[in-house]
Amino acid sequence: MTPSEIAHFMASLFQRWPDKVRMLDPGAGIGSLSEAFAASFLKKARVGSQLEISAYEIEPILAGHLREHLFAIESVAGKHGGFIRTELHQRDFIEEATFASQFPGARYTHVILNPPYKKISNSSEYRTLLRHIGVETVNLYAAFLALSVALTENEGEIVAIIPRSFCNGMYFRQFRAWLLERVAISHIHVFDSRNKAFSDDSVLQENIIIRLEKGVTQGHVIISTSNDASFSDYKERSVPFSEIVHPADHEQYIHIPTHAVAGGGSLFACSLADLGLQVSTGPVVDFRVKAHTRANPTDGSVPLLYAHHFAKGVFNWPREHKKPNAILVNDETRKWLMPRGWYAVTKRFSSKEERRRLVSFVLDPTKLNADFYGFENHLNIIHSGKQGIDPDMARGISVFLNSTIVDLHFRNFSGHTQVNATDLRTMRYPSKEVLKALGKWSGVRETSDQTDIDLKIEEFHDY
Ligand SMILES: C[S@@+](CC[C@H](N)C(=O)[O-])C[C@H]1O[C@@H](n2cnc3c(N)ncnc32)[C@H](O)[C@@H]1O
Repeated sequence: MTPSEIAHFMASLFQRWPDKVRMLDPGAGIGSLSEAFAASFLKKARVGSQLEISAYEIEPILAGHLREHLFAIESVAGKHGGFIRTELHQRDFIEEATFASQFPGARYTHVILNPPYKKISNSSEYRTLLRHIGVETVNLYAAFLALSVALTENEGEIVAIIPRSFCNGMYFRQFRAWLLERVAISHIHVFDSRNKAFSDDSVLQENIIIRLEKGVTQGHVIISTSNDASFSDYKERSVPFSEIVHPADHEQYIHIPTHAVAGGGSLFACSLADLGLQVSTGPVVDFRVKAHTRANPTDGSVPLLYAHHFAKGVFNWPREHKKPNAILVNDETRKWLMPRGWYAVTKRFSSKEERRRLVSFVLDPTKLNADFYGFENHLNIIHSGKQGIDPDMARGISVFLNSTIVDLHFRNFSGHTQVNATDLRTMRYPSKEVLKALGKWSGVRETSDQTDIDLKIEEFHDY
């Protein structure tokens, strides 16, 4: 259930108060959001305005409490001389809304929601229903949001607290496209506990509060942050939409630039494709080639590399470990191997001890003499046409990816700890010249000290 401070903050974000307000609370629980909304209405709407609340709740026990709360809202309004009428629908919102949205009819001026979060399986009835209205999504929260948009009238406002997972990643690609075609994003609030040692596990941090307006022209977006639900350190700034969704980004990632990346522009000048590079997930899935892997190097085998071979920034192969160190080269495995060369490698999953989400290493072939390498699936590999890359580029990319500025940048668009090849493909990089200069610098220093890296990167802010 939404805590009261958050519910009141959400209700405070609505800006239009017409004389007749029709509000929707889909998946209303016991009605915390409706209650906060009614309080805002009584405070802000003109005397004599009317509010109609439609609350959907499927769960019978919650619906019982909701009925009492809605009744209380109506009586409080009466005492304050306001007019509020409420309606409880103890029904399935997805079924009702997909049906209703296919016909013209009453639409809502305001929607406030904290929807359920649950995966929708491919075969579920919900998927079929949602397809009828052109929505393709994998999670209930996105379905609730899409149906809210569908049932909102033009210039209507929607305020939702939802996971930020839809902002990036391929699973939500179609959903983002569907959404951005219909609404303008006007405000995103993030719970940003940066001071609390990057506490990734906080539930709040994985959620955002978002205000959308239907059918209006997209303008600047307010990005606000607070450490927690008390909003005591609330800060906001206005950001051009081009910083939220980059105009050339076909994936339409929604960035949330809470960390002003000062002077970072020139560090993010190029795409990976501009640099003539590609990124792939490590092609060797070890259990599929189990028969061909070896605990230790043998004749006819080549190194099989895992993240633990690069632990703490030091390359250490072969290494005693429960995982194999080598893979045989034969007709079965050859297609999964990459030729000897320089590569920039990143871990797909950062461990709890790591402060940064992005952790990159250089694979230096002078330290690993073999014709081919096997890269295991928990790594991402930056390469050029499945071949190695220029040594200074490999080192430069690694330094860049290991910098604090890139970590902050990455956090602006990703709420989770996993780093996928798509994320690295979508990210922006410095020019070839800057990367090579960074690579030359690190080649002579071989440093992995964070302060050294960050100071060096700073030199290129205004390059
Ligand atoms: C995360 S809770 C939030 C409750 C409330 N909006 C709040 O902010 O306190 C989501 C609610 O949606 C309800 N729900 C789940 N699936 C539903 C459906 N298909 N139709 C209507 N309500 C549903 C759940 O029972 C639950 O009460």
